[in-house]
Amino acid sequence: KVTPVILCGGGGTRLWPLSTPRTPKQFLPLTGPQSMVAETLARVSDDGLFGPAMAIGSSRHRDALQQELPGVRLVLEPMGRNSAPAIAAATLLADPDEILLILPADHHIKDVAAFHRTIRNAQPAACEGQIVTFGIKPDFPATGYGYIEALPADSAAKPVARFVEKPDVETARTYIETGRFYWNAGIFMFTARVMREALAAHAPDILESVQAALTEDGQLDRTAFSRCRSESIDYAVMETANNISVLPVSMGWSDVGDFRAVHALHAEASHDPVVLRGAVVAPGAERVFIQSSGPKVAVHGLDAISVIATRDAVLVSSLDGAAGIKPAVSAIQTLG
Ligand code: GDD
Ligand code: MG
Repeated sequence: KVTPVILCGGGGTRLWPLSTPRTPKQFLPLTGPQSMVAETLARVSDDGLFGPAMAIGSSRHRDALQQELPGVRLVLEPMGRNSAPAIAAATLLADPDEILLILPADHHIKDVAAFHRTIRNAQPAACEGQIVTFGIKPDFPATGYGYIEALPADSAAKPVARFVEKPDVETARTYIETGRFYWNAGIFMFTARVMREALAAHAPDILESVQAALTEDGQLDRTAFSRCRSESIDYAVMETANNISVLPVSMGWSDVGDFRAVHALHAEASHDPVVLRGAVVAPGAERVFIQSSGPKVAVHGLDAISVIATRDAVLVSSLDGAAGIKPAVSAIQTLG
């Protein structure tokens, strides 16, 4: 059986001001009636395929995590150190031969049956010592994703020539033109032993810091964990490891990563305006995503933008530049 490991410690910065440090996007019902983290757990509750899940998130969200993930083993981080330390903790807490399935808590998958089929198909490669990634066919030169170059093979899981995390737009364009690249879905499958060895080879300091921080009851000591380097698994391991496979998948995946993705999820056709709650747009506006839970919002004469208004804040941004919004949001948050 496969052990789902739900990563739920991210900040969801690119969806500010809907997503805030207190309530980041994984706790919001952005894609359906339940929170995204609850939706993630529901997706792995088929007990023919999955064992009990583990979730790794922030201690500041303890109450929300307990409420949204009842009965799930929780590992609480005293502070965020990005995904590599979280994954390191999971590999150290699991049995070496356990197959772990790393799942971001903030994705939407429309076709859950296809997702389950994919996980079944990935099992042999994971058992053979591969770090299995899941490849999404790219449809624009996104800069917020990892890119995976697949080598031709007859097997379901294909060997990977290289993994490049968040290339610039020009590089992304050249990758897409070759037809050999996939977006990294951010879902990974491997045995605990294989990832432990990969961390030991490519990011030994992270593995050691996490090992030192793990307490007897499987939690993380604040002082020891604070010394750990903050790094994503993509940079720490995926860009340098050479035992990587990719399984191309088509399952209606969206990382709901920025307002461009949220617009695409809601829009029937790509140029449709999406106007939710408390807002109006002038007739003829194309590709806008507007919603307000605060002031009335009206938009005129602008296309391809998002406007998000809450009681406390308003964000107006270009849909096509949405992936690069983090610095602006960080600057705003320093205003308090
Ligand atoms: N526990 C924990 N602690 N989880 C974390 C932390 C942390 O400090 N930081 C991030 N996460 C979780 C997030 O909640 C999310 O579920 C997952 O790790 C990925 O982090 P993101 O910050 O959302 O990464 P990304 O979207 O920039 O990039 C990753 O996902 C893309 C697909 O959505 C990469 O894997 C890319 O290669 C990939 O294309
Ligand atoms: Mg993400």
